Amino acid sequence: MPELRVHKARLQDARNVFDLVNSLSGDGTLLRRSYAEICENIRDFTVVEEQNGNFLGCGALHLYGPHLAEVRSIVVKPDAKGLGAGGLLLSALVEEAAEHAVLSVCLFTRIPEFFEHFGFRVAERDAMPDKIYKDCQTCPRLYACDEVAMVRGPLPKVVMLGPRTIQRPELVTLQLSSTGTNR
Ligand SMILES: CC(C)(COP(=O)(O)OP(=O)(O)OC[C@H]1O[C@@H](n2cnc3c(N)ncnc32)[C@H](O)[C@@H]1OP(=O)(O)O)[C@@H](O)C(=O)NCCC(=O)NCCS
Repeated sequence: MPELRVHKARLQDARNVFDLVNSLSGDGTLLRRSYAEICENIRDFTVVEEQNGNFLGCGALHLYGPHLAEVRSIVVKPDAKGLGAGGLLLSALVEEAAEHAVLSVCLFTRIPEFFEHFGFRVAERDAMPDKIYKDCQTCPRLYACDEVAMVRGPLPKVVMLGPRTIQRPELVTLQLSSTGTNR
């Protein structure tokens, strides 16, 4: 077994992250990410590599707020599967959420069995409205989604994203004179 290490991604890792994540976006295993989006969000990512720096995989933790974070884009190169790299990544992301004192960590997946090893349990997808608002509304698979929602920790009780009730602005009645100036 090679010795593996994880560390927060740097911008120099963006190309490897882009190639690996998008290699699995065609069949819907992972959401497609543009290179720009990966660069912009590179601080969400953690990478796993061999001691010699050989890149093996990546995963991201997106923070919605103190109530919720999401594990995204977790993937290991096909020839590095089964070496513990995916588990190392996931543990690092869960630990990162704990460092931020985030209460719940969610994810959507087709392989719930993998995540059950790490304390995630299946949940109703409607229980994660922030995630749905962020990704699902624009997803081509919105009505044919085969992913399972999972959560670690309590179900979130707070929603940060989505349409909010806008307070009715105070109406100001203008009293115009015949010359068009306010009196
Ligand atoms: C899922 C993935 C990241 C796992 O990475 P990995 O490095 O092979 O996983 P590990 O070697 O760390 O395995 C950790 C444990 O999970 C189990 N496991 C791994 N893949 C699994 C799977 N697909 N289903 C169920 N259990 C799985 C392993 O048997 C191991 O269990 P053990 O600790 O009892 O031995 C990897 O298979 C992958 O990149 N898959 C394609 C991308 C993908 O589907 N990502 C998830 C998107 S939500």
